[in-house]
Amino acid sequence: MRLAIIGTGYVGLVTGACFAEVGHHVLCVDIDPRKVAVLNAGGIPIYEPGLEDLVHRNTAAGRLRFTCSTATAVAEAEVIFICVPTPPQPDGSVDLSFIEGVAREIAAHLTEYRIIVDKSTVPVKTGEKVAETLRRYSRTPTEFDVVSNPEFLREGFAVEDLMNPDRIVIGTSSVRPVPKMREVYAPFAAPLIVTDTNSAELIKHAANSFLALKISYINAISAICEAAGANVLEVANGMGMDERIGRRFLNAGIGFGGSCFSKDFSAFIKIVEQLGYDFRLLKEVQRINTDQMDRFFKKIQETLWVLKDKRLGVLGLAFKQNTDDVRTSPAVDLCQRLLREGARLRVHDPKAMEKARAVLPPSDAVEYVDDPDEVSAGCDALVIATEWPHFAKLDLARARRQMTTAILFDGRNLLDRAEAEAHGFLYRGVGR
Ligand code: UDX
Repeated sequence: MRLAIIGTGYVGLVTGACFAEVGHHVLCVDIDPRKVAVLNAGGIPIYEPGLEDLVHRNTAAGRLRFTCSTATAVAEAEVIFICVPTPPQPDGSVDLSFIEGVAREIAAHLTEYRIIVDKSTVPVKTGEKVAETLRRYSRTPTEFDVVSNPEFLREGFAVEDLMNPDRIVIGTSSVRPVPKMREVYAPFAAPLIVTDTNSAELIKHAANSFLALKISYINAISAICEAAGANVLEVANGMGMDERIGRRFLNAGIGFGGSCFSKDFSAFIKIVEQLGYDFRLLKEVQRINTDQMDRFFKKIQETLWVLKDKRLGVLGLAFKQNTDDVRTSPAVDLCQRLLREGARLRVHDPKAMEKARAVLPPSDAVEYVDDPDEVSAGCDALVIATEWPHFAKLDLARARRQMTTAILFDGRNLLDRAEAEAHGFLYRGVGR
């Protein structure tokens, strides 16, 4: 099938590449000519495992192309996916101007029946507004359908999630676009749910907020474990074996982050408020998340007593493993707090150092270290802030030898406590 993707950010680029991989012909549109030039020259503007190969293979096969022209996309594609940003506004509500702009742009070039699919995360009822905009700005009366098809991909696993989705959600107010949407997704072996547009839009926000709730729940339990002398890992394992609960997303840590996850979560509170519902449960989830970081920071402060001029090694800057994304990263937040207290940092992340340089203050108080085993050299304490799995294999004997004092703050519970203690470390995890 001929498909178009408007917006080549995380969601758009990965979606376009995966659609091409399963045999569709995909034209990706972006308003930024520099980005289009980079993509056409074989460059990939983001780090996402497996993406580069996918893009190169499919551009070489002629199934994946990049352009700045929405007109060409509307002329060529049967189905047009909108994948543009929906950033937060100062009052917490969602800025839908990019979505509206794309709808007007599509309308301006609409001459025959097209299916317009919204993949961006949007407030419930956005599909209705998009349809209204398309009707209002079409130059000639043209048939179209608007579909909501939310994307559930995780950064760092985007290709994997897109190629093997748990479910595909299709929201529409008419049956007409359903066969084509089934055809788009036929190569993906996943259950396809057809529902109304408003429900589809709600599924995305409701699912994400539930995951945030799960994390805050286990983080709250971790605080209780610390007070009671219990171990949150044991509690999570015991809880997770109940199939109704499940073990995934029950890892206590320094709080959830990530630009999409946190933004969508806050947006949902605002969206339901506008619908007349005060979602106090989610507000509490947010408060627990902030508390979790505060408690971890306090733990460092209380253990080290004075932070000024202390040297700390920080492992991890990305908001989670497998990504170079540092937006709304708890790890970066922690570094900023430590720097404000006058600490000196030696930091490392396998992918996010370049992006972290842009957000951490340019200062000789921050040293960027390429080798994770080198980070602890001359440090008073070592902090694990991101759950990169290989941090669990740290050379503890070497760390012990090269540190001034042997103190470990494991913000992601990655290390074996007994092993760390056997190496002579004072170990401080989360809820254990
Ligand atoms: C999330 C959703 O998972 C995805 O479905 C949606 O499309 C976009 O938002 P992502 O932002 O990539 O994806 O991050 P995710 O892997 O969900 O992690 C979110 C945050 O929660 C990270 O900061 C992570 O470190 C934290 N987390 C996750 C925990 O603290 N504990 C856990 O058990 C799981």
